[in-house]
Amino acid sequence: MKFEIFTILPEIFSPYLSASILDKAAKKGLVEFNLHNIRDYTNDSHHTTDDTPYGGGGGMVMKPEPIFDAVESVTGTPPQCPVLLMTPQGKVFDQELAHTLAEEPQVAIICGRYEGYDERIREHLVTHEVSIGDFVLTGGELPALLVMDAITRLLPGVLGDPTGAIDDSHSSGLLEYPHYTRPVEYRGWRVPDVLLSGDHQKIEDWRSMQAIERTNKKRPDMILKFNPEELSKKPRAFLIDLLKKSPNKS
Ligand code: ADE
Repeated sequence: MKFEIFTILPEIFSPYLSASILDKAAKKGLVEFNLHNIRDYTNDSHHTTDDTPYGGGGGMVMKPEPIFDAVESVTGTPPQCPVLLMTPQGKVFDQELAHTLAEEPQVAIICGRYEGYDERIREHLVTHEVSIGDFVLTGGELPALLVMDAITRLLPGVLGDPTGAIDDSHSSGLLEYPHYTRPVEYRGWRVPDVLLSGDHQKIEDWRSMQAIERTNKKRPDMILKFNPEELSKKPRAFLIDLLKKSPNKS
């Protein structure tokens, strides 16, 4: 999979991309992070990428020409892949969109700075406006890194344990069950006996029920969307019982 990243600050990316799992994935040839400096697609001697807004008002606006030229020269005219615009106005990024985008061979990501983008970029170039949450950052570079990280870890061969991405919080529609490792007792706090029992069915049921319980407590919005048919018999009965006892009104 290839990420084509369009930015005026490419230097922001290398410290993160050159560390850890993303770098290993790139070295294995599972993913490419191709950085494109939007300034390289300007035609004036100052390499201008922004300008004042028509109609007045404060702030600067990212010009359309360098962004269109950059994205089209890399991905085709019109672009032959999804073109993401990182913006607080976008749909909030989630695990479902990460899975959808992980199926694509190429994804373009435009990272903005300044007050905003010329509207024609949104209307005629971009396929997805993506936000990472209801807050405003100084630019789209951190959001782009976050999105690429979430997608890359889903690509086959990237995580050491191939089941890692399946059991995750959010992939299953439930938050993840609690984890424990050695020592069996720490400061008087013991690992739950069931995990030491060696009974795999019992452990699986316990984990499912823990996941249900904590999702209900921490993210009641998620439990309402969850389909109980995805569970085996015992956890399903547990969920139905829980919802009867504490009907959740969110
Ligand atoms: N750029 C600035 N703030 C952002 C946000 N919350 N999400 C995506 N891109 C942004």
